[in-house]
Amino acid sequence: MERKWWKESVVYQIYPRSFMDSNGDGIGDLPGIISKLDYLHELGVNVVWLSPVFKSPNDDNGYDISDYQDIMDEFGTLNDWEDLLEGLHSRNMKLMMDLVVNHSSDEHKWFIESRSSKDDSYRDYYIWRPGKDGKEPNNWTSVFSGPAWQYDQETDEYYLHLFSKKQPDLNWANPAVRKEIHDMMIWWLDKGIDGFRMDVINLISKAEGLPSTPGGKRYDWGGDFFMNGPHVHEYLQEMNREVLSKYDMMTVGECPGASVEDATKYANNGGTELNMIFTFEHMDLDSGPGGKWDVQPLKLDDLKECMTKWQKGLEGKGWNSLYLNNHDQPRMVSRFGNDTSYRVESAKMLGTFLHMMQGTPYIYQGEEIGMTNVKLDLDDYKDIEILNMYREKVIEGQEDQAKVMESIYMKGRDNARTPMQWDDSQNAGFTTGTPWLKVNPNHAEINVKQALEDSNSIFYYYQKLIKLRKEHDIIVYGAYDLVLKENEQIYAYTRTLDHETLLVLCNFTEEAAPFEWPRHLNGEAGQLLITNYADQGCDTISSNTLKPYEARVYLSK
Ligand code: NOJ
Repeated sequence: MERKWWKESVVYQIYPRSFMDSNGDGIGDLPGIISKLDYLHELGVNVVWLSPVFKSPNDDNGYDISDYQDIMDEFGTLNDWEDLLEGLHSRNMKLMMDLVVNHSSDEHKWFIESRSSKDDSYRDYYIWRPGKDGKEPNNWTSVFSGPAWQYDQETDEYYLHLFSKKQPDLNWANPAVRKEIHDMMIWWLDKGIDGFRMDVINLISKAEGLPSTPGGKRYDWGGDFFMNGPHVHEYLQEMNREVLSKYDMMTVGECPGASVEDATKYANNGGTELNMIFTFEHMDLDSGPGGKWDVQPLKLDDLKECMTKWQKGLEGKGWNSLYLNNHDQPRMVSRFGNDTSYRVESAKMLGTFLHMMQGTPYIYQGEEIGMTNVKLDLDDYKDIEILNMYREKVIEGQEDQAKVMESIYMKGRDNARTPMQWDDSQNAGFTTGTPWLKVNPNHAEINVKQALEDSNSIFYYYQKLIKLRKEHDIIVYGAYDLVLKENEQIYAYTRTLDHETLLVLCNFTEEAAPFEWPRHLNGEAGQLLITNYADQGCDTISSNTLKPYEARVYLSK
């Protein structure tokens, strides 16, 4: 398998608004990030993915960009950004920026022009249609609730917005739009950045004719008509030819609704499109038929099936990204582990489970100290997705308020966005002012200061996981196989490379979990590389029962 630096990397995602505030305005900023680079360096990650820092009216916290080539005032200046890049590079770390080009902000100059008249030269930069029988041009709904079309009185037409109405979709069918985007990417790459994370990049090509969904529903989820659309590969191949192939860089495309089959194209080994994608399949396993907010318990069998499908499906064909957290997902330890009695054990187990797989691991800020979900009062939530959903379901739809709040506690995006917990002081050391989103009250116990003082902390465990990946090629390049398939408590798999075998055992439950050694290992599991119960003595390493949330990794040669 071809060696690549981005296969051997571990990425750390920063959500700038919530990472570190340097000037007391309650909003994280670039100087704040710079002040924490030594911390990231100590953790051992070598790539930082920075969620958007560009000019934005913040309808969706920076994912609505009004100027792609300037920095948001709250975050600092282009000079601060240069210092950040320099600070990373001088520590041998790389910077991946967020590319949000399925849509812009409605306050972008292109859109201001575009909406001004039907004859404007920017009109076709966006997707405008006349209404049909006094209704929207089709019946698609937005990801953030309500119709995906907004009527604009000025020219008596509707524009498409798959996200909020302040995030109009760019028209990728227009070659001038694609050229603008390529030029902008080149501008950043020439400044020295090392890659792009591409926001919902598989949504850029909409179905010909923008048809309504079949079945005659007034409003309906039209995902099949804009996810993985007819020209998406053509557009990405063009971007690759014009831009990506000219730099030694890393790309990851966020691709909701992409199958393994789709991923073998987006992230193909031939390198004609992207390096890897973010799949959503494992993130959807705890959603019921009603979608994201219809929360169901995760079934371990489903997780085994899903992860194995991706691991085997891309083997020799593409490359996986590995994540359980990001700024859109609830905290993994609350979701898939146990955030009370086994918080430390289960966070370490989940980290082991993920970091030993084939692919490039992503750590989201706070994951490395086991940050958890939060329960806020409705008025304290800030996320547009939560607020729109609440309005649609409770205020307009009369659904049970308590049930909807419960789903927000479990799935709301603000779970991931509460400020980073640096210490046990007021506001967790994040700001000296009033934080833009409330700090999780558990920062008194869960914080970086505490983690750095405790040699058994999740932080040091993650540091070790990262170090192991650097030391053992098998962790990066070995082939994956599921073992102990029928075990109802344990997720176990092997990796193999040349004459080496890695065995990974993870107990996903809070009960002891007995198992039989996989037969081909003949009871010779090998050297124990890492376990989350190390502090309790190593006498258990050959035991055939895993303790609650225990994880073990063995290497045999
Ligand atoms: C995906 C991003 O991760 C999310 O935060 C954002 O709201 C949407 N795309 C729209 O840009």
